[in-house]
Order: sequence, then C-alpha cells, then structure tokens
Amino acid sequence: MAFATRHFVRAASSDAATAAAKKLLIKHVTIIGGGLMGAGIAQVAAASGHTVVLVDQSDEILKKSTKGIEESLKRVTKKKFADKPEAGAEFIKKTLKNLTTSTDAASVVHSTDLVIEAIVENLEVKNELFKRLDKFAPEHTIFASNTSSLQITKMANATTRQDRFGGLHFFNPVPMMKLVEVIKTPMTSQKTFESLVDFSKAVGKSPVSCKDTPGFIVNRLLVPYMMEAVRLFERGDASKEDIDVAMKLGAGYPMGPFELLDYVGLDTSKYIIDGWHSLEPNNPLFAPSPLLNKLVEEKKLGKKTGEGFYKYK
Ligand code: NAI
Repeated sequence: MAFATRHFVRAASSDAATAAAKKLLIKHVTIIGGGLMGAGIAQVAAASGHTVVLVDQSDEILKKSTKGIEESLKRVTKKKFADKPEAGAEFIKKTLKNLTTSTDAASVVHSTDLVIEAIVENLEVKNELFKRLDKFAPEHTIFASNTSSLQITKMANATTRQDRFGGLHFFNPVPMMKLVEVIKTPMTSQKTFESLVDFSKAVGKSPVSCKDTPGFIVNRLLVPYMMEAVRLFERGDASKEDIDVAMKLGAGYPMGPFELLDYVGLDTSKYIIDGWHSLEPNNPLFAPSPLLNKLVEEKKLGKKTGEGFYKYK
C-alpha cells in the first residue's frame, strides 16, 4: 500500500512536472464580466488576434459591452489608421470577428487557454465562479483574476489548479493604459507566470511582476497617497484645490489626488482602504477617513454621480 501510494505520488508529480514544463501559448481567451474592465480586456485581446468569448449575465449587458467595444475601436482606429481608412475598417472587422459573447460561462470554457475574471469585486462571488469553472475548463487552462484589492491566493484555493492560477491586473481604460501587473502567488508555477507575461505582451501591454500583496504595486502606492491627501485636507493644512495644483505642478502628476479620487470613485477607494484596514488594523497608511466615509454615505461617489470632492455638471 505504502509502495502503491508512493508510486502514484511519483507518477502524479511527474505528470505535473511535464505539464508545468510546457509554456502555454495562449490563443483562446474567455473573459468573464463585460463591464468597464472586461470589455476593455476583450477588445485588446481580440484586436491582437486572440479568439475571445466575452461572458456576462444577460444579453442586454453584452449588447452594451459590444457597442462600447465597437465605439472604442473606432476611436483607436481613427488615430492608428489616420490616413488609411480602409485598413482601419478591415482592422475593426477582423477584431470583431475574433469576438463572440455568451451568458453561459461553463459551456464556453471547454476549449479555452485562459480565463480572465473581471466580475464584481466580491471574494465569495469570485470564488463561487472559479470553483464552478474549475470543473468545466480543461486541465491546461490558466485562470486569472483582474481584482484590484482581493487576494489571488484565496481565489486560487477555491480551485484545484493553484499552479495554473495568477493575477492579471489591467488598468482603466484598458485600450489606453499600457501596464499589466502579473501576480504570482506562492503556488503559481513559473510556466504559468511566463505564459501570463507573454500574453500581456501579446496584447500590447508592458507587464510588471508582483507578489500577491495588498494593492500589488500601483494601488499599494497610489491608495495610501490619495488617503494622505484626504488626511492633509481633513486636518485643514491645505485646500483640496491647492493640494491638486501642488501635485500637478510640483510632482508632474497628470491629475491631483482629489481629481483622481473622483475619477476612480469614492466608493471603490473606500472599499479598498476598508479591506486593507481589516487586514492590517495598525497600519496608519490604511486608516479609514471620516470625510471619505461621509461622502460615500451621502452617495457623493465622484464623477459617476455628479459629485464627490468636486461637483460635475
Ligand atoms: P463593472 O461593474 O463595470 O463590471 C462587472 C461586470 O461583471 C458587470 O457587467 C456584471 O454584470 C458582471 N458580472 C457580475 N457577476 C458576474 C458573474 N457571476 N458572471 C458573469 N458576469 C458577472 O466592474 P469593473 O470596473 O469592470 O471591475 C471588474 C473587476 O476589475 C473588479 O474585480 C475590479 O476590482 C477590477 N478592476 C477595476 C478597475 C477599474 O478602474 N474599474 C481597474 C482594475 C481592476
């Protein structure tokens, strides 16, 4: 019995070693969530020659996502093919040919190389999705989450493919922003990581690597910075207008911290800081802000609601 177990373990680990040794060339991608991020990721993946299935909960949402992609493609094409409109039209046609939609994730993942999840920022909902898809996706398929603030390791643990699980954190708006953070958990295999890096490059982005740490690189620096700006303002040390001007003219940032908070959404920022605060309650950089909490309570969430730190018409 002991021998049989050892033999089985050796055979299984040698199978795993062979699978891990092969770097996967990602051709077919399934993107779950056709919102702001998912639609953008679908666009850049299809535009770079991947076959893409975009999944969301209803045909109505998917129609909106597709329309948004078409409009974004037109904008991109206008710039990229400024004096070759025919080539531009051909590019749009080809891109859209690579893109299909579905409301049934389980039925479309059977032949996919990569699943990118870009649904609501809720760990239970994400875990439930990954756990279900784990049963339907082939052995070789890599799973990735586009989460901004949740732990990739916790999602990987909802599946049986922890070695084929990583983070792919794109930035908004996806067609414009060049960065992708590729997140490697302690269980992500080197080959999976390399496949995700290759995929990021193939869709025209510049990947950087980060461990599975709160906020990865960009948000880990950016969110505490924005919170410090709010605290500076809360203490009455400077006006929000002056803080914004100071960071634009003094640090060369394209937006001030309050303009950025309004752009990102105050609810999103609060959600992130509250999550980190519960992980590290003694970290002063993650301390909640009474002013931010008050604005969110009043539904002043930033640009999207017409008012945040500033008013928008
Ligand atoms: P969104 O709200 O625009 O889109 C989410 C979409 O997922 C919606 O269309 C919703 O119908 C769909 N959805 C929800 N549950 C689903 C399910 N079980 N199956 C299929 N579809 C489902 O959200 P957004 O902004 O695109 O964010 C998505 C993810 O990307 C989140 O994890 C977020 O943290 C992350 N992210 C967001 C960024 C941003 O600037 N908005 C930047 C980088 C990452």
